[in-house]
Amino acid sequence: MATLDDIAPLRDQALAAVDAADTLDALEAARVAHVGRKSPLAEILSGIGRLEPAERGPVGKTANEARKAVEAALTARKDALEADAMGAALAADDTDITLPGDPHPAGAVHLLTQVRWELEDIFLAMGYRIADGPEVEDEYHNFTALNVAEGHPARSPSDTFYVRGRDGVALRPQTSPVQIRAMEEARPPLYVISPGVVYRRDDVDATHSPMFHQLEGLAVDEGLSLAHLKGTLVHVARELLGDDVEYALRPHFFPFTEPSVELYVRWVDKRGRSLWLELLGAGMVDPDVFGFVGYDAERYTGFAFGMGLDRIAMVRHGLPDLRLLLEGDVRFLEQFA
Ligand code: PHE
Repeated sequence: MATLDDIAPLRDQALAAVDAADTLDALEAARVAHVGRKSPLAEILSGIGRLEPAERGPVGKTANEARKAVEAALTARKDALEADAMGAALAADDTDITLPGDPHPAGAVHLLTQVRWELEDIFLAMGYRIADGPEVEDEYHNFTALNVAEGHPARSPSDTFYVRGRDGVALRPQTSPVQIRAMEEARPPLYVISPGVVYRRDDVDATHSPMFHQLEGLAVDEGLSLAHLKGTLVHVARELLGDDVEYALRPHFFPFTEPSVELYVRWVDKRGRSLWLELLGAGMVDPDVFGFVGYDAERYTGFAFGMGLDRIAMVRHGLPDLRLLLEGDVRFLEQFA
């Protein structure tokens, strides 16, 4: 029968074996031999019930402490051996972790997309929703339903890109056909914007490009007036260019709005010159247009507007040349990242 005096030597042997183990396998063998189920220490612990009652307490307590000490030593030794193994693996690996890494630049949102998102946020906050329409559009939506007369220059192939062999189908020269599509799909009240690409037969120069970006807007409801249009446009101009922006509405003509206006803002360029710049075209929806989409022009009125995103980006950032926006030169673009 084991006695209290047997325990300390068992513990010391176990600790010595743990200390001597120099591989994980050797350590596991020491664990099995010294604290495993058939080890002398385990047998002492499981035989406590057969001891004299007076011995049970002291033997149990001492044996348990011995087992805990051995288990703690096992854990510590295991950590040390594992760390050694990892260190050896690192030493064997000839990767030079002090070399600079391959640069992996984070992308950024293109300036035009930033301007579009900003405008979308301004209009979403006013309750507008975003509508989409095709860039390759039929003659009816491009021109006819927008009240563009037969002989109007915009219909001419010298202004608009027609698709060869597809009668009247053309790359849309403005986002306004989305107005028609939005009204065909829904009844008033209607508050939509539609950003997108448009195409015109212009030669490329600092302020012209055959492809550019617009954002169209349309509101149709009962009781909308030119005052609502003006309030909306001035709000947008202030959000974009600051509360103290100087603006002017000037009469204009568009076939699908009556009356029509253009919004001008005063802009001081990088050289300190003060200029009046046309920011957008707009007007009250012509009742004839409502006729094409079956809206009751006696009951509803509406306003529409269209602005050039490229131009807004140029005005905002004092860009000297529109081409910078489309050439994809990272040295230019990353200034706005
Ligand atoms: N589509 C017009 C343009 O390209 C702008 C516009 C939109 C004017 C809506 C009035 C109403 O110039």
